[in-house]
Amino acid sequence: MLPAALAAAAVLATGACSGDGATASPSGTWHSLVPLPAEVAYRGAGFTIGRDTAIAAPPEAGRAAGHLAAAVRRATGWTPRIGGEGEIRLELTGERPGASGGAGSSADGPIVGDPGAEAYELTVDRDGARVRAGTPVGLFRGVQTLAQLLPRRGATLPGVRIADRPRFAWRGAMLDVARHFFTVEEVERYVDLLAAYKINVLHLHLSDDQGWRLAVAGRPELTAVGGATEVGGGPGGSYTEQDYRRIVAHARERYVEIVPEIEMPGHTNAALAADPALSCDGRRRRPYTGIDVGFSALCVGRPAVDRFLADVIATMARLTPGPYLHIGGDEVETLTQEQYNDLIERAQELVGAAGKRMVGWQEVGGARLAPGSVSQYWQTGRTPDDVHRAVRRGAKLIMSPASRVYLDMKYDEETRLGLEWAGLIEIEDAYGWDPAELVDGVGDDRVLGVEAPLWTETAETMDDLEYLAFPRLPAVAEVAWTPQEARDFGDFAARLAGHGPRWSELGVDFHRSPAVTWPN
Ligand code: ACM
Repeated sequence: MLPAALAAAAVLATGACSGDGATASPSGTWHSLVPLPAEVAYRGAGFTIGRDTAIAAPPEAGRAAGHLAAAVRRATGWTPRIGGEGEIRLELTGERPGASGGAGSSADGPIVGDPGAEAYELTVDRDGARVRAGTPVGLFRGVQTLAQLLPRRGATLPGVRIADRPRFAWRGAMLDVARHFFTVEEVERYVDLLAAYKINVLHLHLSDDQGWRLAVAGRPELTAVGGATEVGGGPGGSYTEQDYRRIVAHARERYVEIVPEIEMPGHTNAALAADPALSCDGRRRRPYTGIDVGFSALCVGRPAVDRFLADVIATMARLTPGPYLHIGGDEVETLTQEQYNDLIERAQELVGAAGKRMVGWQEVGGARLAPGSVSQYWQTGRTPDDVHRAVRRGAKLIMSPASRVYLDMKYDEETRLGLEWAGLIEIEDAYGWDPAELVDGVGDDRVLGVEAPLWTETAETMDDLEYLAFPRLPAVAEVAWTPQEARDFGDFAARLAGHGPRWSELGVDFHRSPAVTWPN
């Protein structure tokens, strides 16, 4: 495995004109862009980067320029100078198409917001390349496209004109670090891979029955006891505040928002093993290392549980610069609906008081959601009334249909790891759906975005994660980014093929989906 610090975006430059897997699209042009831009036209002569080529960029575009320089170094072996005049120009226009405020316009601003804030234009002609955007985050997204236009080994960019913006604001991936623990370096490597496909959210599932992974001030037992287990009985692990801040900083450097999730009221055995005061019978639970669900719950209404909620949500809010906190809320089988609603509404109040917005799995729609809260749809046919109630209350939906985007499902009967309860998911399945067609009456305007969860009951290593995520994660990235009418599975499969050699170069252990003609 390569060092985690390696900038994946720099390596995931896929080969236009390189002959190493670049493929013909229906329009007959050669390219391997994933996700497909909203508008792309290949035309005229391209530009060959030389040893003297420089990148001109304003100071606000430092991150985009740095990533582009790394991509050029990877492809050509030399590092372009940044600053002053340059044949590769990153330009901030200050205009934001369709802007309603917020998203990613400053280093410290939110990253998930108005999709218009991520719009960019990219042109390459014989004189050079230019990326123009209204915001630094738009430039960063454009630079990912430019990096994909670079050949894997070589210096010539194709002549092209691209106008692009995402379909959805929230283009997420979720990583379950509770069932099996993953180190800071491993999470950072996952972030690098996400950013290359313009995914802008990493939702970290930080607690579950099998493990508690985030240090909470004044409650050392949560990590000392709750963090010391994982599925199968391994040693587990946890993040200190400093670890978590490192992950957040690494992600923000790539315009990826970290959304932390602490599960409540269910999926809480690790917390109950750490603190018996959270159980109604006051008895300490034994650590759990199996994979059943639904059996654990906090004792709703106990003052000790209220103090726990306040401490945990305050910690998440303090450590997380982004606007969203996820409180779980799924699969509770041991509480009444009233008890469940009571706890979700208490949590929502605490999240709101901390200046954040609550996200919860679709069951949270059973409670009285605030209009700014978000429901994460995950299973078709499950609690449909809760989904509709959430929408009627003004909540938006994140679409994570298990049968399409749960990356922990097996690809086929032979897949060496993964589960099957939501079905087998090949790349056609992960790609071939429309987020605006899942729930009656819920179109693009009520869909905040799309997210691909990776639960880790069976995934223990970085190789396992990558094998399950690739190639399905880029498929979901395109579902979330590209206009529905521009998407076509055959075209996608042809473009995706060129990414295989880049993944191999990165040491990404990917599944060779039979629908794709992978180059050797
Ligand atoms: C879930 O898969 N239980 C959200």
